[in-house]
Amino acid sequence: MKRPSKIKLIAWVASILPAGWFIINYALGAYNPYPTLFLTQFAGKTAIVFLLLSLACTPLRNIFSCSSLNQPRKVFGLASFYYALAHALTFLVLDYHLKWNWLLPEFQNKPYLLLGLAALLLLLVLALTSIRSFQKRTADLWIKIHRWVYPTTLLVLIHQYFAIKGDKRTAILYLVIFGILMILRVPFIKSKVRIKREDSFQKINRWLLS
Ligand code: HEM
Repeated sequence: MKRPSKIKLIAWVASILPAGWFIINYALGAYNPYPTLFLTQFAGKTAIVFLLLSLACTPLRNIFSCSSLNQPRKVFGLASFYYALAHALTFLVLDYHLKWNWLLPEFQNKPYLLLGLAALLLLLVLALTSIRSFQKRTADLWIKIHRWVYPTTLLVLIHQYFAIKGDKRTAILYLVIFGILMILRVPFIKSKVRIKREDSFQKINRWLLS
């Protein structure tokens, strides 16, 4: 089996760290008296961060001419899906014990939950179709499906905006970051923001790929 590159290992470790952090603090009782609510919020926030990180890889690759930044895209995307799943399951199973007579009114009264559900289903499709054999067999279809990541992120960001009860500054900041990442994909802008090829970047790039 091929040894994973350093950048992939770094990305995997980075994806596991938040879960480790949560488990240690949970064991220490840091989230009492509402550990379930804390887990819902923590997993949701982590899912969004990884989604934005996966979207940031391509623009950063273009800006710094660092091909290694292609590699963490999938790892971050999958991490986002796993944290989003943990987030939704905590709410549906631990909080509401999958009781549909409790859940249905919640979904009816809080439309942002429906947006979250739609986003989760889209993330599931993206995760399932990221398997290499699917990617190889259906190259064109795969590219089309993976463009859904942009509307999916928008759904998630709207879901977050309406779900947060108090200060909405973080949600607005994430929307701005998403906007910037989208602008950096516009071909005209893309060609303007490229940083001159530096030897130091190329050295780091080779090290990350090794
Ligand atoms: C079935 C799908 C989903 C359900 C039922 C759901 C449910 C919820 C609920 C109930 C809250 C409010 C938590 C509170 O009381 O503070 C919330 C907030 C949030 N959700 Fe979801 N969600 C879903 C999907 C997603 C997905 C796919 C993501 C991200 C990829 C996500 C990210 C967030 C974030 C970031 C927050 C705000 C957390 C905070 O800062 O307080 N959700 N969600």
